[in-house]
Amino acid sequence: MNHFESSEAAALVGRYDDIWLVAGQRTPFADYNGVLREVSPTDLAIYAARALFEKSGVPASAVQAIVAGNMAQASFDAYFMPRQIGLYSGVNPNVPAVLVQRLCGTGFEAILTAADQIKLGKAQVALAVGTESMSRNPVAAYTHRAGFRMGQVDFRDFLWEATKDTTFGGSMGDTAENLARRYGISREETDRFAAQSFERALAAWEAGWFADEVAPVVNAKWELEGYNPRGLKLADRAERFERDGHVRPTSFETLQKLKPAFGGVQTGGNSSAIVDGAAAVLVAHGDWVRANGVKPLARIVAGAAVAVPPEIMGIGPAPAIRAAAKAAGLTVGDLGRIEINEAFGAQYLACERELGLDREKANVHGGAIAIGHPLGASGVRLTTTVARGLKEAGLQFGVSSACAGGGQGVAIIVENAG
Ligand SMILES: CC(C)(COP(=O)(O)OP(=O)(O)OC[C@H]1O[C@@H](n2cnc3c(N)ncnc32)[C@H](O)[C@@H]1OP(=O)(O)O)[C@@H](O)C(=O)NCCC(=O)NCCS
Repeated sequence: MNHFESSEAAALVGRYDDIWLVAGQRTPFADYNGVLREVSPTDLAIYAARALFEKSGVPASAVQAIVAGNMAQASFDAYFMPRQIGLYSGVNPNVPAVLVQRLCGTGFEAILTAADQIKLGKAQVALAVGTESMSRNPVAAYTHRAGFRMGQVDFRDFLWEATKDTTFGGSMGDTAENLARRYGISREETDRFAAQSFERALAAWEAGWFADEVAPVVNAKWELEGYNPRGLKLADRAERFERDGHVRPTSFETLQKLKPAFGGVQTGGNSSAIVDGAAAVLVAHGDWVRANGVKPLARIVAGAAVAVPPEIMGIGPAPAIRAAAKAAGLTVGDLGRIEINEAFGAQYLACERELGLDREKANVHGGAIAIGHPLGASGVRLTTTVARGLKEAGLQFGVSSACAGGGQGVAIIVENAG
């Protein structure tokens, strides 16, 4: 049953024939106000990009375009982020840089924008980085430049306010509750799913599966000749940060004891964890890949962005995945690995129901409930994860996707590069 045919029909889709996801690296994700709390999203992104060049062996000098993805401006120099990512990660200083934003779809958008630029012939190799510091979201005021009227001081917690959609007057959590009601999803089912997310992520970490995509973070200083140096310093005098901080043993029984956060099935335990982190990928044209003897992770086959009603924004992945699969000449059944961002447990479950998904193919190494959801970075992580998952399982096609606040969904279909 497809309840979102009109969203699917109006999708913005792109098809790519010879564009490749070369490699990906990310930082471990740290719990809100944890060890990465003092690091700006620009520095998180520089760290991820530098780790990517080091691990992949592709020199930064190969990059001809930079696309950064980020939501919250979390440093006073935030406007300069895309450019500074290039400058301090060693990319040629002549390479231009742009910032993109599609809320929780931002990381996907960074990859798709890179793919579009390459398809248009503007560049052969692009660096796409998604980054977010949830901890450094500002306490902000928008109306005080002209002063204060007595009793009308309006500084607010931006992070808290930013999850409320003023279109319908509810929070992102409320959208998950709307889906829970609409699809008949219970608290028990949501907690069981969350427990599975923790269990899968923990098992993947224990098995060493993440080691290939996660670069441990150490304190760093980056020099740039003729300019100011910048760097990264972990909080709490930590010297090294190696593993996703939110991933820990979490039983169903523990989850059942937590208080509802939005008056229904969602709690702090079965919603995406609030974390800091960055993820980077290289996207390249096949001509460059072949000329340089590079072994890519996956081919980028198609991408789609869709719009859905704001008050059920979490269903976005359903029409987005369908639209992207259609553009790729595939059906949902052809997808061997599926990553749907777990913004909220009930939101994932609604997508699972809407698409009729087999849980054994979806989020097999855990999802954002356990690993966390640093908004602008998640799409880059999920696309790297699904590409690596295809390689691991020897499967051909997979999809990464997310819902986005305001009522959108985005999806990227990738094909195992073999
Ligand atoms: C749901 C949400 C509001 C909960 O926020 P919170 O109440 O600050 O959550 P906390 O992390 O403090 O968790 C609440 C409680 O659950 C506990 N908890 C959370 N995860 C747990 C776990 N895995 N195991 C055990 N306990 C856990 C916490 O320790 C805390 O306990 P306490 O009240 O005794 O301190 C917040 O996580 C949220 O908004 N998430 C979604 C973010 C979002 O909207 N992203 C965009 C998506 S579109």
